[in-house]
Amino acid sequence: MARRGRGKTKKNKLLLSSNEGTIQEHVDVDKVEKRLRQTASDLKCEAFYGTWRDELRMATLELQQRYLKRKADSQSLNCSSGQMQCVCYGLGSFSSCASGRYQLAMLMLLLDALEIRPSDCSVFDPVFSSGEKAVLSRIGLTVLIENEEGKRQALKPTFFYLMHCGKALYNNLLWKNWSKQHLTEILIVGNSFCGMKERTIDREFNRDYRYISQITAVCKENLLPCPSHMTDVFSDTAVLTFPAGDLDKLSESTWTNPSEPQYEYCKDLEIVCKDRTEII
Ligand SMILES: C[S@@+](CC[C@H](N)C(=O)[O-])C[C@H]1O[C@@H](n2cnc3c(N)ncnc32)[C@H](O)[C@@H]1O
Repeated sequence: MARRGRGKTKKNKLLLSSNEGTIQEHVDVDKVEKRLRQTASDLKCEAFYGTWRDELRMATLELQQRYLKRKADSQSLNCSSGQMQCVCYGLGSFSSCASGRYQLAMLMLLLDALEIRPSDCSVFDPVFSSGEKAVLSRIGLTVLIENEEGKRQALKPTFFYLMHCGKALYNNLLWKNWSKQHLTEILIVGNSFCGMKERTIDREFNRDYRYISQITAVCKENLLPCPSHMTDVFSDTAVLTFPAGDLDKLSESTWTNPSEPQYEYCKDLEIVCKDRTEII
């Protein structure tokens, strides 16, 4: 993956320490932002970016139309516009890691293409340093301060961006939106659920990741292209949507009293929980 040249020293550059209390690595906010913008402009020239953009445009349009129809059918007095929201978990340390930087650059391009205001995009990763949070705020994104563990209920059509994240984050997200109404109004750009199923022992997949396991049979996966020089960054990524007609194939009992995932038998949870400070 091509790395860009070093930016020139600026008089008033903002230096913030990374991962307070651990390595005192300084993040040059100007330089990281500049590099990120350069990465975004490089990505925009890649042929596969156009396919990602078009797939996402189509999928988000469907979501918005469904949401507006539901509002109209219910004669809701709440004249909500159906403006898409975005939530991004698990980018990683994008100031020092090329994968995270490319994934963030892709997110910036997609927000622009989908006309989602940067402030309507919330981002969280427990590893973000104060410098990285400053970069994210500078580009206008909303940096969450609380670890939601992926348990975010979508109140409007929402695009979730979870690149190469732990299965528990997806499972928690599905649990929090476990109804036909909510699932039909979200889409996830993230790891293919079919791929997860293939790579995990059936018994453990069904027991620990019950929500992913149940939805895999009926969700729609459109695998996104990934050029061979970017497999570390964009491999195994799909647009996951949950069409109403397909959700109807699941029995009604699937939807009743969904219990909060506990992961008591899970040896390797792969995500950071609220009450844990270190990465599991
Ligand atoms: C396998 S890494 C992927 C990093 C990056 N997306 C990449 O592809 O290189 C998983 C990421 O999920 C993050 N993560 C773990 N728990 C999380 C949580 N509760 N909320 C958001 N992100 C979390 C980790 O800190 C880590 O950066």
